[in-house]
Amino acid sequence: VSETLVVQSHQGPYTAFFDDQALTRLNAAVPSRVHFIIDAKVAGLYAGDLHQVLASPSVLLIEATEANKTLDKFTGYVDHLISRGVRRGQTLVAIGGGIMQDIVCFLAATLLRGMPWSFYPTTLLAQADSCIGSKSSINVGKTKNILGTFTPPEKIYITTSVLATLEEREFRSGLGEMLKVHAIDGPASFDRIAADYPRLFTDQALLRRYIYGSLAIKKAIIEADEFDRGVRNIMNYGHSFGHALESATDFFIPHGIAVTIGMDMANYTSMRLGLMDASHYQRMHPPLKANYSGFPPPEIPLEFFFSALLKDKKHTDVQLRLVLPDAQSRITVGLYSFDAALRHIWTDYLTKELYP
Ligand SMILES: NC(=O)c1ccc[n+]([C@@H]2O[C@H](COP(=O)([O-])OP(=O)(O)OC[C@H]3O[C@@H](n4cnc5c(N)ncnc54)[C@H](O)[C@@H]3O)[C@@H](O)[C@H]2O)c1
Ligand SMILES: [Zn+2]
Repeated sequence: VSETLVVQSHQGPYTAFFDDQALTRLNAAVPSRVHFIIDAKVAGLYAGDLHQVLASPSVLLIEATEANKTLDKFTGYVDHLISRGVRRGQTLVAIGGGIMQDIVCFLAATLLRGMPWSFYPTTLLAQADSCIGSKSSINVGKTKNILGTFTPPEKIYITTSVLATLEEREFRSGLGEMLKVHAIDGPASFDRIAADYPRLFTDQALLRRYIYGSLAIKKAIIEADEFDRGVRNIMNYGHSFGHALESATDFFIPHGIAVTIGMDMANYTSMRLGLMDASHYQRMHPPLKANYSGFPPPEIPLEFFFSALLKDKKHTDVQLRLVLPDAQSRITVGLYSFDAALRHIWTDYLTKELYP
């Protein structure tokens, strides 16, 4: 495993450093003129390792909840930063998962018309997926991720040892996005991570290699289409269904687990529409199921699921933009008219295939 990954963006290159001493180093020499925004749970768990950081002049602890990345909470965050004398040229530093990333990235994009930011991702999902790609997404009222920008960080520091304290559901959520990006890379890539899947729970070095590998696959896609106008759309594999499942269960299912079910559902749909052979669905079903069935089965209210799916912002009229695998298991974007046949297929999946 190489120690760094450089990503090209419209604001120039930025680097993800794989460095298990990064947090220790940060704490030993806390830079001046930085403002920390830290996941409150991480601050508690790592209070010892981060004691100098936590005692520095500008620290804001935020609980990682969807409500806390809602637009109206930003008044409080901006007031806090003003009270700490925020100026252009200073740096915002995020420590936490995707929620801290979204909050700090959005502030960095808009505060004083743009500030540099850096990121210490602490969840598997953030380390293996969201930390690169430049996106910020925040909620307005009940509408998730409706405001956003493309604002890459200056630097990302990946400390995989902090993953040891993640709850299992959060760990599986990150694994879901890792399975996704490997599926996009192709069947051989997916089969490799599927074979190693059980060991990812116990083998730190192997996990680190797959985190690096996941980012390397994503890097090629976002460099080709940073602004999500073309090829990057395939990263939404599992996401139309996943978002609808999250929304229908009131966010009871963690994002990456919903995406895992969403990929299985996409494969099932493709099989039932005759777009691909049943063997592709059957090949991917066991590893996907292994990832989502470690999570207690929630009841999926079908009508909520359908209304959430049809409201998804990536859809135009009654046409649904779906990311489905083709006959070679290649992930492709297509437009499908929502009709009784699709409703039937998805009802079958949710009532008969999922958690049978
Ligand atoms: N901007 C993007 O590109 C992008 C991409 C994917 C997801 N997201 C967003 O990210 C959010 C989800 O992020 P996430 O899954 O990384 O998790 P998160 O930030 O929601 O954190 C999940 C839980 O893990 C806890 N936690 C974080 N680090 C920990 C650690 N080291 N040990 C123990 N507990 C820890 C948090 O306190 C929280 O309870 C969603 O809001 C999603 O919309 C953004
Ligand atoms: Zn995702």
